[in-house]
Amino acid sequence: MSVANHQLNASAPPSSSLSSIFARSDFTRSSVQIVGVRVKKPGFFKCVATPQTVLSTRRLFDHDHLKTQVARRRAAHLAKYPDAQVISLGIGDTTEPIPDVITSAMAKRAHDLSTLEGYSGYGAEQGEKKVRAAIASTFYGNLGIEEGDIFVSDGAKCDIARLQMLFGSDVTMAVQDPSYPAYVDSSVIMGQTGQYQKDSEKYGKIEYMRCNPENGFFPDLSAVGKTEIIFFCSPNNPTGASATREQLTKLVQFAKDNGSIIVYDSAYAMYISDDSPRSIYEIPGAKEVSIKQM
Ligand SMILES: Cc1ncc(COP(=O)(O)O)c(C=O)c1O
Repeated sequence: MSVANHQLNASAPPSSSLSSIFARSDFTRSSVQIVGVRVKKPGFFKCVATPQTVLSTRRLFDHDHLKTQVARRRAAHLAKYPDAQVISLGIGDTTEPIPDVITSAMAKRAHDLSTLEGYSGYGAEQGEKKVRAAIASTFYGNLGIEEGDIFVSDGAKCDIARLQMLFGSDVTMAVQDPSYPAYVDSSVIMGQTGQYQKDSEKYGKIEYMRCNPENGFFPDLSAVGKTEIIFFCSPNNPTGASATREQLTKLVQFAKDNGSIIVYDSAYAMYISDDSPRSIYEIPGAKEVSIKQM
């Protein structure tokens, strides 16, 4: 997975480094009860998870998660119609074997590490230069994205969490509704969201951008409040809807107007079969306001 990364020109939220997040004097957060204790060495905090940590974190996640709902409905349907062939559109696991061209290359590369010529020690932290160059030319041929813009990581979900750590707990965020749960969950962990509201089944401080058949699965941006971060997934999980060029142009303009950063998740871009953009970087100006994951 890779994140193409640019100099973000929009008035970005206070992007704190990990050390500055941990050095914050208000690190004790009532929502998750993680307690930062200053130890003798200057600038160091010891994190102590109190018993309340488990309880209150559980309480935070004690909402009817999409995944749980899908599983419950599938079980109920199967109980009623035991012969039904259910195709699950919920969160699941991969189901198809990895193509041989990939696994053989991985096996060869691993084996090369056992040879004097192939051994390389630690790899480059942003990913192997050759791989990054290949990603840049294969996926972003004429879009002005270069090897140095690519970061190869261990997965989009981990990147979401890392970006959230970088953004810190004071940012505001918008998310498609419905969308892949990791955006909201990582936001909850960071303490950005406020408490879960049982009546609305939403978190108080998140800006939910309704995406449904009535609005063509693209939010009415005139009704969306200004936030520092916008998570946007296209094609979206779970709806499968991909945003058109016009819609993404509106989204980029919206982010520029509000000084927001778009975290654009295109995990399913390769499934796009019409002329919808496979990358937000096809939209002029998107590089100034967006980070893309795939
Ligand atoms: C929209 C979306 N983004 C990211 C991910 C996670 O990707 P990764 O396996 O690279 O962590 C998933 C996995 O289901 C997903 O549906």
